[in-house]
Amino acid sequence: MKDTLMIIKILCGATFLHIFVNMRTGFNIDLSGRNTFRMKVSCRCLVEYDNVEELRDALADPSLPRPLFPIGGGSNLLFTSDFPGTILHCGMKNIKRLGPDRVYADAGVVWDDFCAWCASEGLWGPENLSHIPGEVGASAVQNIGAYGREVCELIDSVECVDTRDASKITIPASECEYAYRDSRFKHDWKWRYVVTGVVYRVSLEPVPVLDYGHVREAVVERFETDDPSRLTPAMIRETVTSIRKGKLPEVDELGSAGSFFRNPCVCQEAFATVREVALRESLGEVPHFDLEDGSVKIPAAWLIDKCGWKGMSRGGAAVFNKQPLVIVNWTGEAVPEDVMSLAEGIRASVKEKFGVELSREVEYV
Ligand code: EPU
Repeated sequence: MKDTLMIIKILCGATFLHIFVNMRTGFNIDLSGRNTFRMKVSCRCLVEYDNVEELRDALADPSLPRPLFPIGGGSNLLFTSDFPGTILHCGMKNIKRLGPDRVYADAGVVWDDFCAWCASEGLWGPENLSHIPGEVGASAVQNIGAYGREVCELIDSVECVDTRDASKITIPASECEYAYRDSRFKHDWKWRYVVTGVVYRVSLEPVPVLDYGHVREAVVERFETDDPSRLTPAMIRETVTSIRKGKLPEVDELGSAGSFFRNPCVCQEAFATVREVALRESLGEVPHFDLEDGSVKIPAAWLIDKCGWKGMSRGGAAVFNKQPLVIVNWTGEAVPEDVMSLAEGIRASVKEKFGVELSREVEYV
């Protein structure tokens, strides 16, 4: 995609000399290589900035079509049509060790490259989050999570530029209101801050997290031990990558945006209703996790599965047969309406059968 990005270096007069010197700006850009669903949509303008100054210049430039919308790897969004404004993308890809237990990464670093770098340095922290598509900046917005780890447990602070006055700000993780796949960057800070980098806490001491699903079993099968002193972050990374490859589509091969819905957390009463339905229809035990606040998390994949959606399709989009929480661009020719129609069908049938409202993890743009 980058190859097709028209590169403009404005070599104009003194007034604009510092603006756009290296920033890459293109108009009417095809976004199919910039969203993992592989939707064939375009944007009016795309700016790839290579330093914070360039981002600040772009924010202050009234000639760029509005709205301005920052994206990372495009792995958690669905473009529902051509985008009329300017897409901002971070081209910075540096990783720096800040001390024994702190690492800084630019927003544009591919998330899995960051995980690989930490593992190669023997640093514990992100290994369970290996192989998640996307970039560092989005990790802090989305609070990515997998296999018993949420990235907010590792985030120390988030470096941002304020879109109101283009000032730089460092926001401590404690102010980001992190929750399951959620943060203030998705709510009151949505149009306010553009993330330019993240500082993570890491550890040289072994702190393996093995108690989610079959992770421990898979580690033991592969390395014949679960003794923390004999494990390395690279071993956990290898195991988690292999588990993910067995269950989830590879976004390079089959377009998708990972889990389409969040796992719903319901009150005890609503959970009792789900159980009654399961009993009445002989659906077996309802898998669930009791949460500290008394609510119950139910895997959305189970609810969708029991509504019979595995493998169902609409146009070019289909429910992935190994993990029904994932909608895939099965033919490679799916259009946004196919995905939206499938998602709406799933939402409505889970609501009708179990009384549970699914909320989207994927953002519609
Ligand atoms: N299940 C079924 N049928 C299936 C597959 C799964 O009923 O075909 C049920 C099973 O009961 C299974 C349960 O769903 O035990 C949970 O499945 P899984 O362990 O695959 O995880 P998940 O809850 O569906 C979440 C994340 C994933 C993350 C995995 C592993 C969300 C929305 N999704 O999925 O994240 O990789 O756990 O930790 O929380 C993503 O966000 O894009 C993503 C892939």
